[in-house]
Amino acid sequence: MTETVTLSLTVNGRGHVVEVPANMVLVDLLRERLQLRGTKAACDQGACGACTVLVDGVPATSCLTFAFAVDGRSIVTIEGVAVDGLFDRVQRAFHECGVPQCGFCTPGMVMLGKALLDQEPPPDAALVERWLNANICRCSGYQVFRRAFAAVGASDPR
Ligand code: FES
Ligand code: FES
Repeated sequence: MTETVTLSLTVNGRGHVVEVPANMVLVDLLRERLQLRGTKAACDQGACGACTVLVDGVPATSCLTFAFAVDGRSIVTIEGVAVDGLFDRVQRAFHECGVPQCGFCTPGMVMLGKALLDQEPPPDAALVERWLNANICRCSGYQVFRRAFAAVGASDPR
């Protein structure tokens, strides 16, 4: 019988108490238990970044993060990025720059961009490049992602 653990966590500003298998990973908790299917599982090996969410503001690959490790933490997923139903600045830049929207890498890319712009604004090209290394776009639309990240950085009022 699989051991279970009870967790208390905040997801997109909402508190949850859940009992889950001790070996459950965060992406499964989000998608299967909390029905937040915006976060994608692609490689399931920590290699592609498609499953990126923010844990206390820091990007994490949710396919490699055990659910028990986020007990007491605050998670933001792609569903929690828009404010009052309006795109946030990263989503707006993606839209305006016409980034590829495959649906698999896009949520992870938005979360990566959000953390990058929230933590270290405005990022220079070298920093954008370093962060982009964490997430794979299989159709190789990197040039447009670079432009979108740079556009957010350039418009950053801070
Ligand atoms: S699905 Fe998690 S890193 Fe690829
Ligand atoms: S836009 Fe998603 S893999 Fe390229």
